[in-house]
Amino acid sequence: MRTSLSPELNQFAADVLAGLSASPKFLSSKYFYDDEGTRLFQEIMKLPEYYLTGCEHEIFSTHAAEIYRSFANCGSEFDLIELGAGDGSKTSVLIDHFLHQTEKISYTAIDISQEALDTLTFKFSEEFPSLKVFARRGDYFRILESLKSPDKPRKIIMFLGSNIGNFSRQQSVDFFRSLRAVMDDSDVLFLGFDLQKDPRVIVPAYDDADGVTAAFNLNLLSRINRELGGNFDIDKFSHYANYRPVEGSARSYLISRERQSVQISALNRSFEFEQWEAIFMEISQKYSLKIISDLAAESGFRIKENFIDGRNFYCNSLWRPL
Ligand code: AVJ
Repeated sequence: MRTSLSPELNQFAADVLAGLSASPKFLSSKYFYDDEGTRLFQEIMKLPEYYLTGCEHEIFSTHAAEIYRSFANCGSEFDLIELGAGDGSKTSVLIDHFLHQTEKISYTAIDISQEALDTLTFKFSEEFPSLKVFARRGDYFRILESLKSPDKPRKIIMFLGSNIGNFSRQQSVDFFRSLRAVMDDSDVLFLGFDLQKDPRVIVPAYDDADGVTAAFNLNLLSRINRELGGNFDIDKFSHYANYRPVEGSARSYLISRERQSVQISALNRSFEFEQWEAIFMEISQKYSLKIISDLAAESGFRIKENFIDGRNFYCNSLWRPL
C-alpha cells in the first residue's frame, strides 16, 4: 500500500509514523509548509506579535548602505542566492537599494516549493526589470555545488528569517559545514538570528491573540488527514507555546484535550492519545551574540559584521570562511 505513494509522501508517512509512535510524541515542523501552511505563515509574518519579520525589515532598510559595502568589498559584482526564499518581501528592500549602486548583481532563489519560486520570480522581474532573476527548485547543497566556480562573481548566500532556529545546535553546525563545503573561498553567508530577549515578548510571537499560529500548527494535523487519510478531529487538540529561558528556545505543542484514538489509513494503524498528552511540534531557538560567534567558529567561519535592530531583538550576521 505505501509503495503506491510518491517518494516525498512516503517520507512524510514514515516520519509521521515514527513521530506518533514515539514517546513523547512529536511531528516535524518541516512539514508545516504545504500550500495552506505557507499561506498561514505569510499571515503570521504580518501579525503584530510576530516581531521577527519587522526587525529584519528594519535592519535591511536602516543598514542597506552598510550591508551593500560589506557585500561589495571586493568589487561591486555579486550574486545573491537565497535559500528557502519564501515570498522574498524582505530581500526586495535590499535589492532595491543595491540596484541604485550597481547593475552587476543577480538574484537566485532556491526553494523546495515550485509555487513559491514562480510567485517570487514573477514578482521580482516585475519589480526589478534590470535584475537577472533565477529560480532553482531542489536540494540546497546539490544546487550550490552546481553553482560553485572560482571565476564567477562571489556569492552572498542568504538564509534569513531565523529559519536556522528550527535546527538543533548539532544540526545547525552540520548545516553550516555542509554549506562551507559547497562554497567558493570568497563567498559569504548572510544569516538571520532571532536574539534572546524578554520571554514576555517571545511567547506571544508563538501564541498570537488571533490564533493564527494555532491554526498554523493544527494545519499539520489537517495535512495528515488530507494526504495520509487521517481522521484527526482538529477541535480536540489545542495549541500551546512556551519559552525556556535557560535553553533560549521557544517550543510549541499540540495537546490532546481528551483521551482519543486517531486512525491514519496510509499507515494502516491508529494512535492512542491520553487526555492532555502532547505532540511536540516545533523548536524556535533564540540566540545571544556569543552563541552566534561560537556557532560560526565551530562551523568554519568568522563573523565579518553583525547588523542589529534598534531594540536589540534580532541580528543579521555576515560570515566569511575562516
Ligand atoms: C520560519 C522557522 C523562522 O520559528 O519563528 C512561526 C516558524 N513557527 N511561528 C519561527 C514559525 C511559528 C518560524 N521560522
